[in-house]
Amino acid sequence: MHTSPLAARADKLVGSVIDSSTSLLAAQKHDIVRFAMGAPADETVPTEEFRDIASKVFTDRSFTYGATEGEPVLLKQLLGYLATTSEPTREERVTITAGGMQGLDIAFKMYVDPGDLVIVESPTYTNGSATALSYGADLLEAPMDKNGLIVEALPDLVAAAGRTPKAIYTIPNFQNPSGTTLSQARREQLVELAHQWNAVIIDDDPYGLLRFSGEDIPGFQQISPEDPLIFSVRTFSKILAPGLRVGWVDADPSVRQLVIHSKQAMDTCTNVPNQHIVAEFIRRGGLDDHLAGLRLEYHARKVAMLDSIGRHLGGRVATTNPDGGFFLWLTLLGEDAATSTQALFETALAEGVAFIPGPALSASGKFDDALRLCFASTTPGRTEEGIVRLTRALDRAR
Ligand SMILES: Cc1ncc(COP(=O)(O)O)c(C=O)c1O
Repeated sequence: MHTSPLAARADKLVGSVIDSSTSLLAAQKHDIVRFAMGAPADETVPTEEFRDIASKVFTDRSFTYGATEGEPVLLKQLLGYLATTSEPTREERVTITAGGMQGLDIAFKMYVDPGDLVIVESPTYTNGSATALSYGADLLEAPMDKNGLIVEALPDLVAAAGRTPKAIYTIPNFQNPSGTTLSQARREQLVELAHQWNAVIIDDDPYGLLRFSGEDIPGFQQISPEDPLIFSVRTFSKILAPGLRVGWVDADPSVRQLVIHSKQAMDTCTNVPNQHIVAEFIRRGGLDDHLAGLRLEYHARKVAMLDSIGRHLGGRVATTNPDGGFFLWLTLLGEDAATSTQALFETALAEGVAFIPGPALSASGKFDDALRLCFASTTPGRTEEGIVRLTRALDRAR
């Protein structure tokens, strides 16, 4: 009998409940209100313009291999666009990636050895923490409150762990899944701790450009410019379209070649035609208007979801109230708190509504009394129907 030739690291490839929900939902035949995936609303994707761009922009060179760091035309447009935002950067810092996930993969690949300690938020975007695990990280979960990661708690947690972290994985704006935003004071404190520990901050911010209320908070790159311990991961997935699979990394120039080498070991270059589509979309000047439209729409959708929750589930749940992004975090209260949201998922699916159960968003499966709702992909009318169905599911589960 042969034992399996799988690598030891295969045990660490834990997969993604979030991604699996896409296949699961695709297999359902009945009508489902989809609060599960964190995807932009279909109707916000500029499909017609992409079609027009695709009919004009491609050349004979659009379908061959591209430079690993990214198509020059996209780098130029991206840098030009970012110069108009609070996160201007320069070419020596930027590498185009296949979405944010590849940026995370590169970051953990570069900084994490097997057995290294990595701080992750609790709850967190578990596709990110799973990537850390795939490189053998030991995860240290750190609690959050309404101002994001409780940075003040980190020194004691690290002392109890008996060793310092190599990386701190944080989603500072409108966090996936909680919707909370890390306060400025905590951002500053986190940078100090990172320096004390010589740990890299993996600054994963897909939603920062989608603030629809409240005051902007400076990003890590603004708080500590040119800091080699800040590795920023960005993506067009939430602000344009996730199927394009185009994102970027903004990191210290001293590691850019390493970023490029990591990417060369993965996929040579990011999808060339899609880079040209994004570049031309920016070149035509549509991105600002597009973002302004998204902010208005997502704000209205968040308000509608909170309103529906208030009317149907008032007193039975507590929710966060994000100033941007895609997600609400809902915690069951009172008698309902005894309901397992993992068990509720099945009942809810039968009722025709989908969400992500809390344990799927925790590195150690916590939060069985909580769930994530994406308000961004559903119109207010459908959201009302979805919350009615969720209420019915909760009544049945009691
Ligand atoms: C916090 C966070 N990071 C990274 C990603 C991955 O982005 P992409 O789809 O561009 O790979 C997501 C997508 O849900 C996300 O929410």
